[in-house]
Amino acid sequence: MKYGYFDDAAREYVITTPKTPLPWINYLGNKEFFSLISNTCGGYTFYKDAKLLRLTRYRYNNVPYDNNGKYFYIKDVTDAANTVVWNPGWQPVKTKLDSYECRHGLGYSKFTSSKNDVEAKLLTFVPMNDNCEISKLTITNNKNTAAKLSLFSYVEWCLWNADDDMKNFQRNLSTGEVEVVDGGSVIFHKTEYRERRNHYAIYGVNTKVDGFDTSRDAFLGAYNGPDSPDVVAEGKATNSVASGWSPIASQQINLELAPGESKTFIFTLGYIENPEDDKWEAPSVVNKKPAFKMLDSYKTEEAVDKALKELCDYWDNLLGIYHISSKNEKVDRMVNIWNQYQCMVTFNMSRSASYYESGIGRGMGFRDSCQDLLGFVHLIPDRARQRIIDIASTQFQDGSAYHQYQPLTKKGNSDIGSGFNDDPLWLIAGTSAYVRETGDLSILKEIVPFDNDMSVAKTLMEHLKCSLNFTITHKGPHGLPLIGRADWNDCLNLNCFSEHPGESFQTFGPSEGPVAESVFIAGMFVKYGEEYAQLAELLGDDAEAKRARDEVKKVYDAVLDAGWDGEWFVRAYDAYSNKVGSKECEEGQIYIEPQGFCVLAGIGVKEGLAAKALKSVEERLDTKYGVMILQPAYTKYHLELGEVSSYPPGYKENAGIFCHNNPWVSIAETVLGHGNRAFEIYKKTCPAYIEDISDVHCTEPYVYSQMVAGRDAKFFGQGKNSWLTGTAAWTFVNISQYILGVYPTHNGLSINPCVPEDFGDFTITRKYRDAIYTIDVKTNGSQSGVKKLTVNGKEIEGTVIPYEAGIKEYKVEVIM
Ligand code: BGC
Ligand code: NOJ
Repeated sequence: MKYGYFDDAAREYVITTPKTPLPWINYLGNKEFFSLISNTCGGYTFYKDAKLLRLTRYRYNNVPYDNNGKYFYIKDVTDAANTVVWNPGWQPVKTKLDSYECRHGLGYSKFTSSKNDVEAKLLTFVPMNDNCEISKLTITNNKNTAAKLSLFSYVEWCLWNADDDMKNFQRNLSTGEVEVVDGGSVIFHKTEYRERRNHYAIYGVNTKVDGFDTSRDAFLGAYNGPDSPDVVAEGKATNSVASGWSPIASQQINLELAPGESKTFIFTLGYIENPEDDKWEAPSVVNKKPAFKMLDSYKTEEAVDKALKELCDYWDNLLGIYHISSKNEKVDRMVNIWNQYQCMVTFNMSRSASYYESGIGRGMGFRDSCQDLLGFVHLIPDRARQRIIDIASTQFQDGSAYHQYQPLTKKGNSDIGSGFNDDPLWLIAGTSAYVRETGDLSILKEIVPFDNDMSVAKTLMEHLKCSLNFTITHKGPHGLPLIGRADWNDCLNLNCFSEHPGESFQTFGPSEGPVAESVFIAGMFVKYGEEYAQLAELLGDDAEAKRARDEVKKVYDAVLDAGWDGEWFVRAYDAYSNKVGSKECEEGQIYIEPQGFCVLAGIGVKEGLAAKALKSVEERLDTKYGVMILQPAYTKYHLELGEVSSYPPGYKENAGIFCHNNPWVSIAETVLGHGNRAFEIYKKTCPAYIEDISDVHCTEPYVYSQMVAGRDAKFFGQGKNSWLTGTAAWTFVNISQYILGVYPTHNGLSINPCVPEDFGDFTITRKYRDAIYTIDVKTNGSQSGVKKLTVNGKEIEGTVIPYEAGIKEYKVEVIM
């Protein structure tokens, strides 16, 4: 069952009922000012950092789940005896609407709904070059008589630090300050401004208003929620000026519309940071000039439409960088629109703010952001470059790294600390992807601090060396890399038991242990050790490249020696040197991660083990909704394994379908040339392909979720944790670079598709460095293998089109 449909021409997902199985959200903002908005207008706004600079308040763990947002109440008072109140997004009043439609587009959302012949059209977006969210609301009277209406706006301010806001009531209930300007047309939220924080927020509308409220209690009434505000029921704002408690911004606009008449209002929610050198006049006197400048820029419909066009042009341009035209509508839809869009969102948010990540828990993940880069780097290489430097700046001199950092301060988070032994190698992955995309070797020579301390800075290449050496110097008894607190699988805490016998992971948390080893990190080392060697060569350091390759060889051999279980790769060795993910285990006999990653790294391909491993995946882990992370699920808690077995069978890391590593297996299949199987795996978790089962899948049908419940779970097939997942980047890498086969190498684009037999011919346009490649592929019903590659009329050997500066257009013909 579906709850909407894709409108590919408009690049929108159109939701036709507010009652989706879960809130279906969108992200507004592309740079520093962001909002989350659900299909019922729930969500919140922040500047740069969802924890530290939160503009509007959100309530987690609430009933209903999607609670609080930026709302508009429309009260129809045409017939005084039968007034009706409704919202364009249905919530929070939930009046049954005569029509409802929500269109989530790229960086904007649009709502069109109607009740009793009054129609509301709401457009909301963050313009490209300002720190504000615009809501353009048009109300139309479709009755054949005049309509009398009152409109009320509503946002609830968060007192900046969203974490403190939820806890520190003894203070926060006395800090709130607002200032009402222009009779309520503009409301300033200046809590803590007097502390010289030099920032404030505004909520303004481009018209005179008939009243306002800034005290939540005055607006809602002490015993009501946003679903039944007193002021709306009374039809009269109280002009309350908040002092402490919970400040809000609400305006009342009364309007009379002739039959057929429309009126449009523009609301601006903005964030202002005064320039450092701005004269600080006096406590609590806000410099309003920048606020008025901002409001002025969006006071007309033309200005708003122009800003929206800028946003759409921006996306046009970005999505022109990789574009496919094939006979597979769903592939085109995901590749050309939604997958790349999600890659932008994950790049911006890392794992900080979604409807599943509170914005106050996790910030920018080291491994997460490095992987997000893989799907983003082609879009805006300069931003990727800066991100790599920021991430590397949180590394320690021994190569290990803070697992997370705070987006505002860019400082490592010491509460979480380090100890995840895969982290260092992901930095090589991200950097290598950047250099292959851009050819910009200068990044490797950038001086980058360790732990943000410039007194111990080294070049980025030295950082990568520290990454490599970290694995080399942290190996266990089988010559395999030590796992530390965990590797990619956060829940595989194999050292916790040895340190705290008899106690659970939950009590003590993991800490680095001496002996547990990871075959997954070994796979990573083989892959990224080689990518490191290539970077060293590009810098002319052949000796370093050789050293890296020698080390790779050792780990490769260690995997064949101790990491092969007979039919598949072992997952790890626990702190007692017992195998994890082996036929010897009672539960958790096979894990997906080493099968995917070792094979995509090339391990066991020539030895004939790779195909066996993938066959085992197919036989033991595959389901109709995707490939499960492990089998058999852990039915009991294993102290020696940690959090993995804390989940009920079928959920999350305990045998859920962890979408993130499905593309690893799909890529692995392409390494073996298995186009049919690679694509079959791709389709199973691909949002566009499972839109029809939205009632089962539940999460948004336009983006990937982190997890789909596995076969052992009660709700098999149900998605969770949509949006912020490495799945976005990895599936884009999989489909664009491996299945469709356009892979950036240091020397130029390689074209080597691996598609299902019935895929048909396709054309890709790819902007790479400063040239445009038009790539026509004739598949001839084959799954892999390029028979003939012609570039600008000349046939070339191999699959790599040598990049030559100066050539701006490459016409490429591929015959498979
Ligand atoms: C989850 C993991 C997640 C980790 C983050 C665990 O509870 O299962 O998926 O990466 O928390 O700390
Ligand atoms: C989600 C985390 O963000 C990611 O870093 C981790 O690799 C996976 N969970 C698997 O545990």
